[in-house]
Amino acid sequence: MRVLSVTSEVFPLIKTGGLADVTGSLPKALLSSGIETTTLVPGYPAVMRAIGSHVPLLVFEDLLGERASLLHGKVGDLELFVLDIPTLYDRPGGPYVDQSGNDHPDNWKRFAALSLAGAEIANGILPGWLPDLVHTHDWQSALTSVYMREMGCKTPVVLTIHNLAFQGQYDSSLLPFMGLPESALSMDCLEYFGDISTLKGGLQTADAIITVSPTYAREILTPRFGMGLDGVLNERVTILRGIVNGIDMDIWDPATDEHIPQTYDSTSLRRKRANRNALLDHFGLDRGDGPIFSAVSRLTWQKGMDMLADTADEVIFKGGRIIVFGQGDHDIEQKLLETADRFPGRMAVHIGYGEPTAHLIHAGSDAIVQPSRFEPCGLTQLYALRYGCVPVVSRTGGLSETIIDANDAAISARVATGFQFHPVNTDGLRLALRRTLDAYADPRSWARLQNQGMKTKFSWERSAEQYANVYNSLVRGTTPASD
Ligand code: ADP
Ligand code: GLC
Repeated sequence: MRVLSVTSEVFPLIKTGGLADVTGSLPKALLSSGIETTTLVPGYPAVMRAIGSHVPLLVFEDLLGERASLLHGKVGDLELFVLDIPTLYDRPGGPYVDQSGNDHPDNWKRFAALSLAGAEIANGILPGWLPDLVHTHDWQSALTSVYMREMGCKTPVVLTIHNLAFQGQYDSSLLPFMGLPESALSMDCLEYFGDISTLKGGLQTADAIITVSPTYAREILTPRFGMGLDGVLNERVTILRGIVNGIDMDIWDPATDEHIPQTYDSTSLRRKRANRNALLDHFGLDRGDGPIFSAVSRLTWQKGMDMLADTADEVIFKGGRIIVFGQGDHDIEQKLLETADRFPGRMAVHIGYGEPTAHLIHAGSDAIVQPSRFEPCGLTQLYALRYGCVPVVSRTGGLSETIIDANDAAISARVATGFQFHPVNTDGLRLALRRTLDAYADPRSWARLQNQGMKTKFSWERSAEQYANVYNSLVRGTTPASD
């Protein structure tokens, strides 16, 4: 089977979060089910550099008013179509924001153009290349199925919701500039409180809706987590299901990781010590004993990092250290930086983004803290497990089903892998940190937690099979078997 995946991010070319990890690793995992994926991405500068120069497969003289070229590329295992539109994608900053952190003002057009190109490919514009199925991701490519339906293209579409908080909401006056007719602005398509929501359009026109954990699939049917789209999702509930993300076991492997000074596995956990020292030095913290609690995260309300700032004293006064590495909302960054100023040598906050540092943090820390207010799946806690780093997480979304809380029953059954807290507030987090510190004080029970975590299997194997099952049933026109 041939699949066209349409996405705004793909690892290792362009990444702001877990979306890139998933679109970058799922294609490889699907190969063993006979599914060949080609990924359509915008020609951002980093993508253009990675693929080198190419003769265009096709030129669109007028794609939403822009001249665009479609290129083919191959990077590692990834087969790519790259949409080169210098007027839209060749600019400094990230995929969504400029260098000052403000949204690119024409994001609506940048991702409408990507989606329209995806729809044109699905509709057969490329001689000799037709996908059996299209896979879209989040609001950025959700319009693909809207365009396809307008073209009369019946190829099945799977839409994965990685995060319902981002919905691609734009003023309805933009509709004609997106090349869409007035009829698309209806309740059963794009219309969202008088505006356009590209995500809603995708939810209404896709053939299957996947979200990245079964728990989040249930949560988003409620007003609390549905972010205004719970009504639509309830109407579409028969095609909605949760499939938990897998991780790339080659990229995140402490036994072979090139980003860490000392490789190790579950039989040589003592070697983590060298990484610990390198990590403390890297962040300018005092060496010495006591657990290191770290966070590698977007610093946003979703991730609850303000709560970590509010509870930092709990860790520091009990001899621990805290490292935060990430970027996001200015207020949360500031709050964390000010907290770190109160604990010199014990707490470090670096505002930034870098893959090698993320790996070093997992390898050198004792615990990873993820106090998310909502979390569709979450990948950092899975990387932490693999690196013998114990996750401390809120009980929500994917976190609740990927981490087994170290309560008495789980400890005696030897299945515990981390600490969960609920309700998701500072008191809850404080209590979980306390429990973690107590467990750390008992080296045998701590080692058991680390070992149990390292044994947990979060490869793509099972989840890719579930995706393959959904793809196959859509292509054959049957109902997906339940797992
Ligand atoms: P989300 O996609 O909501 O941000 P996930 O846990 O699914 O959350 O994925 C986050 C991904 O982004 C992980 O691969 C994590 O390592 C990475 N990441 C987050 N912050 C940073 C950072 N400051 N530097 C490098 N990687 C980061
Ligand atoms: C989103 C979610 C995160 C998930 C990731 C990949 O960014 O916030 O929970 O793991 O997508 O699916």
